[in-house]
Amino acid sequence: MAWTAHTIIQNGKAIPFEEARIHPLAVGLAYGAAVFEGIRAYMNPATGRLSVFRLEEHLVRLDQGMKFMRFDNPPSRDALRQGVLDSVRANAPDDDCYIRLQVHIESMGNQSTTGMVGWVCAAIPRERSPKRESGLSLGVSSWTRIADNTMPARIKATANYHAGRIATLQSKADGYDAPILLTRDGKVSESAGACLFMVRDGVVITPARDSDILESVTRDTVLALAAELGLPTAERRTDRSELYVADEVFLCGTGQELVPAAMVDRLPVGDGKPGPITMQLQAAYESVVRGTTDAHAQWRTAV
Ligand SMILES: Cc1ncc(COP(=O)(O)O)c(C=O)c1O
Repeated sequence: MAWTAHTIIQNGKAIPFEEARIHPLAVGLAYGAAVFEGIRAYMNPATGRLSVFRLEEHLVRLDQGMKFMRFDNPPSRDALRQGVLDSVRANAPDDDCYIRLQVHIESMGNQSTTGMVGWVCAAIPRERSPKRESGLSLGVSSWTRIADNTMPARIKATANYHAGRIATLQSKADGYDAPILLTRDGKVSESAGACLFMVRDGVVITPARDSDILESVTRDTVLALAAELGLPTAERRTDRSELYVADEVFLCGTGQELVPAAMVDRLPVGDGKPGPITMQLQAAYESVVRGTTDAHAQWRTAV
């Protein structure tokens, strides 16, 4: 990760990274009226070319978020797609990159302000999880996951991350790597920035979409890859106590990628070592994002 970002795309224009601006009283900041996507572009080791993973799915989810926010004159999908590609090309990274695409209200106003809408796209270096091989220590948080009828987790709003941040800070203070959040009725939801899977008796299980989760692109990828590997999958309500008896637990997300959990609430997951199905899925994920397999070529947009 030797490269650094020098150029950022703001409202469609490439400008020096440190010159991007938004007023401190902008509604995007003052009332958290912003939605975003975290996207990754991966380098193929054989060709040295970067491709963006599942760009269209991220753009669709961002559209859903902008609709939900009732933004006036939101940027078009074509403009945002171009912004993502331009943000990577302009920085000519020699390695993988993380792309943050954010749409926010740039003007001042109040809680009913719906414009003027602005957007920014930044491609930056991002380390992989140091626990990719050894596994995370997760703790169930005493903070509850935001509920659909208060702040829908389905929409990737920056404001949602206030709740995630509280839980993350608490979990670090308690000595864990990351929290697991439960829904208001005590079922497993997800982590603060990643979805959760467990493996029980060979079945790859993840909380259902009505568990106050972000409808994660990576979760969808993992379900597809598991099915292709012949592993049965289930999307269903998940009890906290199942985490203690599961054979394997892992987190997944664009930023996290696919990372095993070694401990939950200081109890070992299985024998406390990353499980075989988790590591099989991690390898399958790695090859599909990087394009070392021809499978799912439509998921990779060449930069
Ligand atoms: C709260 C939350 N859940 C899940 C995910 C995973 O979503 P995706 O796979 O679309 O990146 C993220 C982001 O990475 C997230 O912030």
